[in-house]
Amino acid sequence: MSVTILVGAQWGDEGKGKIVHFLSQEADIVARYQGGANAGHTVVTGERTIVLHLLPVGALWPHVTAIIGAGVVVDPIDLMKEIDLLQKSGIDLTGRLLISHKAHLIMPYHKLLDRVAEEKSSEKIGTTGRGIGPAYVDKATRTGIRIVDLLDRDVLRAKLRRNIEEKNLLLSRIYETEELNEDQIIAEYLKFDKRIDPYVKDVSVFLSEAISEGKKILLEGAQGTLLDIDAGTYPYVTSSNPTAGGALTGLGIGPRCIDHVMGVLKAYTTRVGHGPFPTEESGEFGKRLRETGVEYGATTGRPRRCGWFDAVIARYSARVNSIDTWAVTKLDVLTGIDPLKVCVAYEDGQRTYRNFPAVPHILEACRPVYEELPGWKEDISQVRVWEELPENAREYLHFIEEMTSVPVGIVSVGPAQDMTIVRRAVA
Ligand code: IMP
Repeated sequence: MSVTILVGAQWGDEGKGKIVHFLSQEADIVARYQGGANAGHTVVTGERTIVLHLLPVGALWPHVTAIIGAGVVVDPIDLMKEIDLLQKSGIDLTGRLLISHKAHLIMPYHKLLDRVAEEKSSEKIGTTGRGIGPAYVDKATRTGIRIVDLLDRDVLRAKLRRNIEEKNLLLSRIYETEELNEDQIIAEYLKFDKRIDPYVKDVSVFLSEAISEGKKILLEGAQGTLLDIDAGTYPYVTSSNPTAGGALTGLGIGPRCIDHVMGVLKAYTTRVGHGPFPTEESGEFGKRLRETGVEYGATTGRPRRCGWFDAVIARYSARVNSIDTWAVTKLDVLTGIDPLKVCVAYEDGQRTYRNFPAVPHILEACRPVYEELPGWKEDISQVRVWEELPENAREYLHFIEEMTSVPVGIVSVGPAQDMTIVRRAVA
């Protein structure tokens, strides 16, 4: 690994946290490039389970420099909470957490607007309520407040005043809800300057120097390809670019810096929030997957919708991200299910789709075309080498490789760090 992008290849929750933590052992730098505290990356280290929402998972290793790029939207309150939480667990980030001066901030009005907009909308997205969409709205309309603004009290005061006045009009006149207290918010956020200052950095310059020095760098995606605002199932998406392209813009590096793109795929499919999901199983089988795979949102606790593996989605993700290898997670959850179904195409009675249409009304009309594969009964959670996986488990993975033309490099057979099979080392 010199510079590797790690992306979620489905609707998020693919188990990226565990894979990033595993790969970060060997990394010098781990950088997050998009999203915010809507992510929930779960890591099991020894006896402890840690869920990080905003900080890169690589930050858990003391040798790693952790970076938050310009493409991330940072809630300073959540950020400080996570820094303090790690500090209490004996993980000190002093001198090794760098935050881009260009990253935009999530303010209390973003969270409030996120929630009231969802409550009042007749077409709900099912957001995490973390203020993500409204913060990216301000970024796109060029009224956002950035990390660098936190360092200048006069600028911050003026920008906050203008924003809060505008949001209060929205809140009271459009959403008919309570206004925010301008002075209270200004007083609260003016205090962040000293706390944030030690972490602020020109991340693009830092990364380009590190790349020239041959450092090992992991770029940690949050959410997943189908939640990407451009590539995903719009409008049922998040407001950033979790795909590989987002890593470049979100960190200020160019495409020639990238050596490897790893896609993380769950061995079946899950989704939280609303929107089409062709292989969803809403009955007993979906429930079985949810219970065995503990499929509850790490950020909101919501039960995840569950269904069969969808190779149409995997093929699409391989294409839009230029994926070099797969990390397949939660293979153990499929133990005992026989036969296993894999969706290889969609059909709507008129035509067959082999390429993912990514348009909700088309997807809603589509039915999955399945191929069946034999399952396995053996407990695979203790397997550590590829050759020792049951033949049918290997055949299942081979089928994914065949359908996507991408080799499987890593297989995860349980939540703990060592429950991992490395078949191909990352470049
Ligand atoms: P938002 O990112 O909070 O605006 O939510 C938009 C959509 O993305 C909703 O369907 C969320 O459930 C989904 N979403 C956001 N973050 C994650 C994640 O980390 N994992 C899975 N789904 C997510």
